[in-house]
Amino acid sequence: MRTALTDLVGVRHPIVQTGMGWVAGPRLVTATARAGALGILASATMSPGQLRSAVREVRSRTDAPFGVNLRADAGDARERVRIIVEEGVRVASFALAPSRELIAELKDAGVVVVPSVGARRHAEKVAAWGADAVIVQGGEGGGHTGEVATTVLLPQVVDAVDIPVVAAGGFHDGRGLVAALAYGAAGVAMGTRFLLTSDSTVPDAVKARYLAATAADITLTRAVDGLPHRMLRTEMVAELEGAGRLRSLYRALRRASGFRRISGLSWPGMVRDGLAMRHGKELSWSQVLLAANTPMLLRASMVDGRTDLGIMASGQVAALIEDLPSVAGLVGRVMSDAERTLAGLGAVAGPPAGASAGPSGGASSPSGA
Ligand SMILES: Cc1cc2nc3c(=O)[nH]c(=O)nc-3n(C[C@H](O)[C@H](O)[C@H](O)COP(=O)(O)O)c2cc1C
Repeated sequence: MRTALTDLVGVRHPIVQTGMGWVAGPRLVTATARAGALGILASATMSPGQLRSAVREVRSRTDAPFGVNLRADAGDARERVRIIVEEGVRVASFALAPSRELIAELKDAGVVVVPSVGARRHAEKVAAWGADAVIVQGGEGGGHTGEVATTVLLPQVVDAVDIPVVAAGGFHDGRGLVAALAYGAAGVAMGTRFLLTSDSTVPDAVKARYLAATAADITLTRAVDGLPHRMLRTEMVAELEGAGRLRSLYRALRRASGFRRISGLSWPGMVRDGLAMRHGKELSWSQVLLAANTPMLLRASMVDGRTDLGIMASGQVAALIEDLPSVAGLVGRVMSDAERTLAGLGAVAGPPAGASAGPSGGASSPSGA
């Protein structure tokens, strides 16, 4: 299936595996690239040195294109951009809107720039600054997310910008891909669905919690870092929601010191990152520290398998997911389901006016922006 996304980045299928902290490492990204979709390494939870090695590891295992996700507001964003450029990474994906200068620097080096956005005005801004495409994440998506549902946000953004739009938030199958294409998107980006594959390194006990989740078990909370964050509703989340200021500060400090050891971030660097994540919101000091520490909380579950201690970022779509296919199996299934769905729609619509009747008459695929 050829769309503006496959043409832009040179992948076979209009499917993106998004950058997920501690989850989207070299193994998942390699599997995705080999399956013909766009895998994106999550770099916010890596030191710059780890990022460079992760890129080299993927490249040593596949010639297919892949991307790197980074936080535009991180203190060392420029250093990470330099690594992306030096290592010849095909796509730079951003968790927040990057500055005009960062976009220009990447584009000058031939890197395709694809920021994630949660609002139409952000899409308009990055498009005006030269972004090559945007990933639009609706509120049902996992991790930090907005409040507007994909079905409302996606057509808004498609109508507002002239660059390819990739739909994210709530997708897991071929029907979803076809629906996104029908809205005018050039493909879908999925996080939770790729986390729940046999190629993802997330511990089995954690995957089991996701598989068991119903829609009611997935919540949007600000209790962790002050920003709307979608995750599995656990006792730890309930505890954070109920904790007083002093206790929250103590916990935040403990986690901050743990993350500092792993990430190599200095205390001032951590406070700077935490403050940058406030986005001008009124956050307590413990929330500022927790914001910088979200990676630690995610690590406890995604790496250490501590379902009791960690947070488990999740899209609502976890409620629909019941298996752990390989990435190749998943991508193959999404594409064959999408083709079957399109053929079914062609049968409903009937052949185009003037064409002779035939089974493939109306099943043309919208190609996106
Ligand atoms: C466990 C987890 C970790 C995530 N970490 C990041 C991250 O580090 N950077 C980022 O831009 N988005 C992150 N996200 C958001 C995803 O990249 C993606 O936009 C989202 O999962 C899409 O919604 P879906 O889960 O419904 O597919 C994360 C999501 C999950 C589930």
